[in-house]
Amino acid sequence: MKSNTEKFGKTPHQPSLWTRADALKVRADDPTTTQPLVSADFPVLNDKVFIWDTMPLRDIDGNITSVDGWSVIFTLTADRHPNDPQYLDQNGNYDVIRDWNDRHGRAKMYYWFSRTGKDWKLGGRVMAEGVSPTVREWAGTPILLNEQGEVDLYYTAVTPGATIVKVRGRVVTTEHGVSLVGFEKVKPLFEADGKMYQTEAQNAFWGFRDPWPFRDPNDGKLYMLFEGNVAGERGSHKVGDAEIGDVPPGYEDVGNSRFQTACVGIAVARDEDGDDWEMLPPLLTAVGVNDQTERPHFVFQDGKYYLFTISHTFTYADGVTGPDGVYGFVADSLFGPYVPLNGSGLVLGNPSSQPFQTYSHCVMPNGLVTSFIDSVPTNEAGIQIRIGGTEAPTVGIKIKGQQTFVVAEYDYGYIPPMLDVTLK
Ligand code: FRU
Repeated sequence: MKSNTEKFGKTPHQPSLWTRADALKVRADDPTTTQPLVSADFPVLNDKVFIWDTMPLRDIDGNITSVDGWSVIFTLTADRHPNDPQYLDQNGNYDVIRDWNDRHGRAKMYYWFSRTGKDWKLGGRVMAEGVSPTVREWAGTPILLNEQGEVDLYYTAVTPGATIVKVRGRVVTTEHGVSLVGFEKVKPLFEADGKMYQTEAQNAFWGFRDPWPFRDPNDGKLYMLFEGNVAGERGSHKVGDAEIGDVPPGYEDVGNSRFQTACVGIAVARDEDGDDWEMLPPLLTAVGVNDQTERPHFVFQDGKYYLFTISHTFTYADGVTGPDGVYGFVADSLFGPYVPLNGSGLVLGNPSSQPFQTYSHCVMPNGLVTSFIDSVPTNEAGIQIRIGGTEAPTVGIKIKGQQTFVVAEYDYGYIPPMLDVTLK
């Protein structure tokens, strides 16, 4: 197995490492990095569908953007099946937990609109059936391109394979609502290469998804973040001194942690339209620490690069752990070096009493963090958890240097615009 230096070369950059020592600093239930409890009597956006990953319309610089006063969000969405015999248990009752757990296999991209930045109205599917080349439409980013209302939706086409793709359409507004038109031709952009980013052939549990394009505020070029795993056959990775970090005596044992190989990938566009991309070495690797660094995204603040990514308890390696939630890293320049925020990386995790209450956090440049409700424990007899599939209360955080603080809680699914574009 090659070392990081051999694998990624000396140029243009070496990935920063999230080390096991960093992860040992994670403290669940620290109030400054813990999401307030979500009550089990939460409202549901729509009882016909489950929604999870939420992707607010934004511009290429990251600003959440409304059009003609309408806010627009995209969500991964799947039908609920309360009457489908396939989802009835032995007593004929709807097994909502199984239905919810199966949702990834039938994820489709939907959109919603609102005048108030909450109380979202369902717009419908973004692409008609048959437009997307694979079964699953997984997460990505909608970018408003101009005052004509053109939108590039970058997303992940999954099963078979996992390809980062884009599809162009247009947002149209009236005084009554919003519709999306176009979104008819999906363009494949790139897949994992097996040299920097792990392929399905190297690991059946590989991850390669969740594109987040942006313009670097310093060099002005078009880049894209995405989730990946470090290339190499499953089980061949080495968790060496660099990946372990500065651990106390007795913490040298890495167990089976070589199976956890998450990374935050980056690509640079060769053209202005973002149709032609070159993958670069990852910005950050978590070999020996965690197997998933999902939906990576940036907040550019105070001249710094704040890199956020979501991760799970179950994807942590042997001997380290942390809550489901959003983790963050900060650097003075795009290619790092990145250091974990709050020492550990943890920015906003679920409380240990409700470990699955929310997930798929997206930190917006105004410090608001949106996420969805997964499941919340209930006191109702016979029901132990209530499945969400809806928007969680938005949380406000303050980002200060290398630290973050939870400072506010807002309404369910509150995603206010940072700027409004009047369409021509
Ligand atoms: C995060 C996530 C994304 C993926 C989608 C699949 O919740 O795992 O990484 O695109 O959900 O449903």
